[in-house]
Amino acid sequence: MTQDELKKAVGQAAVDYIRPHLEDDSIVGVGTGSTANCFIDALAQYKHLFDGAVASSETSAQRLRDHGIPVYDLNAVDGMDFYIDGADEINEHLEMIKGGGAALTREKIVAAVAREFVCVADESKLVERMGTFPLPVEVIPMARSFVARELVKLGGDPVYREGVVTDNGGHILDVHNLSIASAMELESKINQITGVITNGLFALRPANVLLLGTQDGVRTIK
Ligand code: A5P
Repeated sequence: MTQDELKKAVGQAAVDYIRPHLEDDSIVGVGTGSTANCFIDALAQYKHLFDGAVASSETSAQRLRDHGIPVYDLNAVDGMDFYIDGADEINEHLEMIKGGGAALTREKIVAAVAREFVCVADESKLVERMGTFPLPVEVIPMARSFVARELVKLGGDPVYREGVVTDNGGHILDVHNLSIASAMELESKINQITGVITNGLFALRPANVLLLGTQDGVRTIK
């Protein structure tokens, strides 16, 4: 199977995973990226089974609307059972690096609200130790250089993702060469730098389940 076929398979697997729990008033949390897009496309066939969705980006919100799925502001909903999203890297503890698509802050917010985070990924995303994928850090634009200097003190090599402005008006620094011994510790430490909106480590709130697309089928890892 190609990588695209693996993404489609996990998108469908995520729909199969949540479908028995969907009710008329259910709100589904939806992430961002090519794997999340596969989930959205698979979810559309069951749009009659639930109320609507909350999206972690304007891009995903548009794709949901294009399928006729109502999109709600997060402030308008009480909560949700599931958040489904991809990852750039994920380890055996289901800690992740996310934000390759610059949606990390909204992803973290929607994930915080959901009872269960279902990560969907092809097997290339499962790593023993995170950090090969540069860690995205969203910053307030005027703080960009200051935050970059602080990240250098933590041993990283930050690179400004030029031309990218997030849905929140933030800028992105991609931090290369970080040694991630404790993802939880590093997540907290980076978030304490003044001017950081958030970073792409999802360790304080890891996924609850990983649906991993492999050549032998979709593996469920909890
Ligand atoms: C978006 O900001 C990211 O966190 C994505 O969830 C992540 O980059 C995975 O994207 P793909 O599914 O396209 O690899």
